[in-house]
Amino acid sequence: EKEMAKFPEPFGLVKEELKPFSDSISELVSSDQPILSMAAKHFFEKRHGKRFRPTIVQLMAKAVAATTVTPPLDSPQLEKWESSGGSHFPTPVTPLNHKSSEVWRRQAQLGQIVEMIHVASLIHDDVLDEAETRRGGDAVHKLYSNKVAVLAGDYLLARASVLLARLENTAVVQIMATALESLVSGEIMQLKSPPESLVEIETYLRKSYYKTASLICYACRSVALLGGHCYGSEVATACEEYGFHMGLAYQIQDDILDFTGVASVLGKPALADMDLGLSTAPILYAAEEFDQLKPLIMRRFKNKGDKQLALEYLFKSPIAMQKAENLATFHADKAVEALGRLPESEARDALVRLTSVVITRKK
Ligand code: FPP
Ligand code: MG
Ligand code: MG
Repeated sequence: EKEMAKFPEPFGLVKEELKPFSDSISELVSSDQPILSMAAKHFFEKRHGKRFRPTIVQLMAKAVAATTVTPPLDSPQLEKWESSGGSHFPTPVTPLNHKSSEVWRRQAQLGQIVEMIHVASLIHDDVLDEAETRRGGDAVHKLYSNKVAVLAGDYLLARASVLLARLENTAVVQIMATALESLVSGEIMQLKSPPESLVEIETYLRKSYYKTASLICYACRSVALLGGHCYGSEVATACEEYGFHMGLAYQIQDDILDFTGVASVLGKPALADMDLGLSTAPILYAAEEFDQLKPLIMRRFKNKGDKQLALEYLFKSPIAMQKAENLATFHADKAVEALGRLPESEARDALVRLTSVVITRKK
């Protein structure tokens, strides 16, 4: 952490860019149905959260502006590239002209889209998880009703789709639509995975990729595409890899905090995952030491006393929590490695620092 102090503070670096963010989202999600407007705006005004995703998108946009765009060599790729970004920006984007460019406008719009998708998924998630609090206040379904929460999430998703289409980049539309599909896959996997797979760390990681990392990694790839890079380019792949590993590190840390965090700091319930029948990294590592945990995991802690017993095993294990932390650190390091393939820039350094923020955060 101390070592990171030499890098720019990530949230500070994009503070100016994110200032108009909430105001303009609120405008974008206004509906002529007052209750939809209110429910949809809830998480953009007072309870705007960490803005972790839009911060990554902004920083990545800056980092991509420091790269050189090379048109693809083969003709089908070149055609696609010309029709979706590259060539409608005749002046090359540099860190100096980036903020006044059409490229930046679209990348900033993407940051809003990503936050809208994220908020839609949280509103629905709290219905699915029957969680009463979020971002330090009542969940939307508590303030209104399940019905309104479902519709408010749908509405945000619909608005996000309109904005996505306005980017006029079919590759980006396809990528972000796939991200939506992944979110749903992750949730259904979490709900319906067969019992034997619940003890596998691979299943846990795949689910975490779908429900969390996918949105971040597809957003990072889209930033590169909006910056004029073609689909399979080195830059687009490096961006995506950063998002992939950051997303996993983020979710693993989230799952650790479910055990070690305090609800009042988290702004949402703690110790909630086992109630939902979910086993995450700490419990899965504890089960490597204590075989007795496996049947509890497989029956999703549904018998009386299962949760208490599982917690006892977890705290009896000297290394389970440490192993979960190491897993988060592993992915944070991989994210830094991916950044090594982008040119040196202030924004890139801030993205490096963000990896350490993610794995040391307390909320
Ligand atoms: C939070 O996880 C939830 C997600 C990361 C994704 C939720 C996705 C859906 C509900 C699918 C529907 C998607 C859309 C776009 C409407 P968590 O419950 O582990 O975290 P928490 O502790 O913050 O509640
Ligand atoms: Mg959930
Ligand atoms: Mg939840």
